[in-house]
Amino acid sequence: MKKKFGLLALAGTLVMGLVAPSQAQAPFREPHDAVKYRGATMVLMGAHFGRLAPMAKREVPFDQAAAQANVDIVKMLAALPWPAYAPGYEGGEARSEVWTNREGFRKASETFQAAVRELDAATQAGDFDAFRVAFGKTGQSCKACHDDFRKKK
Ligand code: HEC
Repeated sequence: MKKKFGLLALAGTLVMGLVAPSQAQAPFREPHDAVKYRGATMVLMGAHFGRLAPMAKREVPFDQAAAQANVDIVKMLAALPWPAYAPGYEGGEARSEVWTNREGFRKASETFQAAVRELDAATQAGDFDAFRVAFGKTGQSCKACHDDFRKKK
């Protein structure tokens, strides 16, 4: 029992250590940390959103549980990167427009998050047609933001 509690406490400490900084007022020590954080979030979002593509394209059968597992991760990630685009965190592959057009960037991130909520609802309902539509909308919203706010390679 004692041992179990010790492990729980350790797990709790680890989780706090990971979560607490992102909740604080000044979550990043330097711009470089913010750039890495949002880049990592984007990479993971790309991976888990990408895993839905074969189903959306009907290359494999729709598997609600498998889709939901990835949608859950995308949904969580979709909430994360925005504080890392706060003023002072310019750089990385983000265009300066992120900071000169705050309203446009905020709208792009909200359109995206709304599309992800739609994707989540469709997946939870097991509605494949709605899933396909929401997948397309979400992908469009990634692209729309990248077109305006991500540096071209
Ligand atoms: C509101 C704007 C916005 C939305 C929405 C958005 N991105 Fe991004 N994304 C960016 C910006 C800006 C960058 C450039 C990296 C940086 O910020 O320094 C980026 C970079 C990336 C990268 C490259 C990351 C790296 O460092 O190699 C990937 C992959 C990516 N995005 C995937 C996605 C996917 C997939 C979605 C949708 C599911 C998405 N993004 C939605 C703004 C956005």
